[in-house]
Amino acid sequence: MAILLPGGAGYIGSHTAVELLNAGKDVVILDNFSNSKPEVLEKIKEITGKDFKFYEADYLDREALEKVFKENEIEAVLNFAGYKAVGESVEKPLEYYHNNITGCLVLLQTMKKYNVKKFIFSSSATVYGEPEKIPLTEDCKTGGTTNPYGTTKLFIEQILKDLYKSDNTWDICILRYFNPVGSHESGLIGEEPQGIPNNLMPYIARVAAGQLKELSVFGNDYNTPDGTGVRDYIHVVDLAKGHVCALNKLDKESKGLFIYNLGTGTGYSVLDMVKAFEKATGKNVPYKIAPRRAGDIATCYADPEKAKKELGWVATKTLEDMCKDSWNYIEKSSK
Ligand code: NAD
Ligand code: UD1
Repeated sequence: MAILLPGGAGYIGSHTAVELLNAGKDVVILDNFSNSKPEVLEKIKEITGKDFKFYEADYLDREALEKVFKENEIEAVLNFAGYKAVGESVEKPLEYYHNNITGCLVLLQTMKKYNVKKFIFSSSATVYGEPEKIPLTEDCKTGGTTNPYGTTKLFIEQILKDLYKSDNTWDICILRYFNPVGSHESGLIGEEPQGIPNNLMPYIARVAAGQLKELSVFGNDYNTPDGTGVRDYIHVVDLAKGHVCALNKLDKESKGLFIYNLGTGTGYSVLDMVKAFEKATGKNVPYKIAPRRAGDIATCYADPEKAKKELGWVATKTLEDMCKDSWNYIEKSSK
């Protein structure tokens, strides 16, 4: 019995593959490398000392997907495939809706056909829109997403709820990630943004590496302790471990549709992140204050209690680990 990871060559998928293999699970990865590289597969093998099957395919390709289900005994699917760049999604909404939503539908239809009904979905804190309260609990209102990327997450969550309502023999887990950062401690796998990064941590790391001149801090007039935006940064290895716990829950406790926040429960500001990065790496991160970025909110962090209680999962890595491991990956991968 194997676990299928569409998008498993990407940032979060590759770290989750490592944790699943380390936990003794059999893994099958499918990816079209639209936002990742084949080398990642070798690195996963190097870290774990374990082998796994790989299919180079698009998850929109029904025939290719069916081949995977015919050739393997898939027991569960963790879906990491999709596009994730917020700005790009505003310019290319059709591509985003097609890849993220149609792709997920083809995947779910194929699962149904082969009677595989355990599904874990990579959602995002972005579904909460403007937070109803802080910290965010899973029952907070969702909606009000400000870009097509975020809306794909919201729509897929709804699709999954409707699917479960129609057939409660599905086991579905929606994981709402907060802000994933860092990389595996080996420095062999990590986040590889194409072009200039949009997200804070990869941007800081590239400024520290001298590849970018300075960080623009988007707004210092928010209603936060230092005026800059506050987020819940979570180490990607903690996040990956959350998937193993979610899978264990679906294995033990069928049936249901479960939703969990995966965050640390602590918010850090942009300037906290700059200072922490400088301290952890000894590098300088020059910055300037710039106008607010459209669509940004002041504060967003999780109440992770539900995941702790029901999954037995807590994030254990520190902010220092997040900074050191991000830097370690940049240093190793630029050699
Ligand atoms: P990523 O881009 O690194 O990984 C996605 C992987 O999916 C890539 O390897 C890409 O090549 C592959 N892919 C894309 N479209 C495909 C297709 N049609 N067929 C086959 N493979 C395809 O992204 P990530 O950061 O690892 O994110 C994984 C999931 O988690 C995404 O759904 C993302 O929206 C979600 N998420 C990410 C974050 C984050 O900050 N990284 C936050 C919240 C949610
Ligand atoms: C963004 C996305 C969200 C996605 C998440 C993870 C938006 C509006 N939201 O969240 O949908 O799920 O990434 O991929 O884009 N910052 C700077 N300078 C920079 C970059 C960021 O000051 O160069 C600030 C931002 O204003 C924010 C914080 O850093 O306060 C974090 O930003 P970012 O890493 O982009 O994540 P989010 O905006 O939280």
